[in-house]
Amino acid sequence: MNFLGILYGVLFWVATIIIVVGVANKIRIYWKTPAPLKIPTMPAPRTQTGVVFRMFREVFFFQSLFRSDKMLWLFGILFHYGMLLVLLRHVRYFQEEVWGFIAFIQPFGKYAAFIMIVGLVALLVRRFIVDRVRYISAPSDYLMLVLLLVIAGSGALMTFVTHADVVQVKAFFIALRTFDFSMWALPGSPILLLHLTAVAFLMIIFPISKLLHAPGVFFSPTRNQVDNSREKRHVAPWAAELDAQGVEYLDQVKHK
Ligand code: HEM
Ligand code: HEM
Repeated sequence: MNFLGILYGVLFWVATIIIVVGVANKIRIYWKTPAPLKIPTMPAPRTQTGVVFRMFREVFFFQSLFRSDKMLWLFGILFHYGMLLVLLRHVRYFQEEVWGFIAFIQPFGKYAAFIMIVGLVALLVRRFIVDRVRYISAPSDYLMLVLLLVIAGSGALMTFVTHADVVQVKAFFIALRTFDFSMWALPGSPILLLHLTAVAFLMIIFPISKLLHAPGVFFSPTRNQVDNSREKRHVAPWAAELDAQGVEYLDQVKHK
């Protein structure tokens, strides 16, 4: 146990609770939000299975972004897939027994850091040099990209230049989960602490930021609705409730 271990232990527990509870709460709100109108972007699938395939293409290939902006699509794909590989590589810090697949991607997966950084830098440059994008960019749009660049930059520095004591980092994160306080200790490497602070900050702001597009994409009515308005009348749940109340009211009036 050391001071840094306690400090970051508490920080990561707080950040984990905030991201889990915060995102779950946002999902609850999205779930309950009525979609009063039938508005799938056409051409849209005619069946539920079709919708599943459409969502799959949207989530894994950014299909609608591809149709609208090829450059943004390219840099978006580089960044997101780079990050996916990086995060999969990180799974080892949280496992006693590392899964075969996670071990397999380690040697080449580390270069994903550069793919992620190239994507992020291009996305940031785009916000500065494309006039119409700069015009609609809010400070938080820049902040997200800079924050992710700080995380990826400090990570890459550790992997390729300075090297942190990854054995202790792993022991620390496993001890956080098992509440083994004797192992709540971290090495005082500034780059590692920068990396971890930025990650904790990202986790804390996640539920109140645009990063919510990750769960949010699944709730987008233009993407998740079936084009069946000719076969089935669309009534939003709250409208159905009002309808039922209306019928009840009419019944009461009739029998007075
Ligand atoms: C289901 C998972 C995800 C999907 C399908 C997805 C999809 C997308 C798409 C299509 C865009 C481009 C939007 C546009 O500008 O028109 C985008 C932007 C972005 N995504 Fe994601 N994303 C996912 C998860 C994440 C996660 C987990 C993070 C970060 C932790 C993230 C960070 C970002 C950032 C920072 C941008 C903005 C880039 C910019 O400033 O231009 N995404 N995402
Ligand atoms: C609690 C969470 C995290 C911990 C404990 C952690 C820890 C580390 C450590 C110790 C390294 C150096 C690895 C080495 O020397 O081989 C590293 C690298 C890296 N980290 Fe993280 N990190 C975390 C979360 C994240 C997140 C959320 C991102 C991205 C959004 C990220 C991006 C990177 C990148 C790009 C690298 C360099 C490439 C690599 O080794 O895969 N890290 N991280």
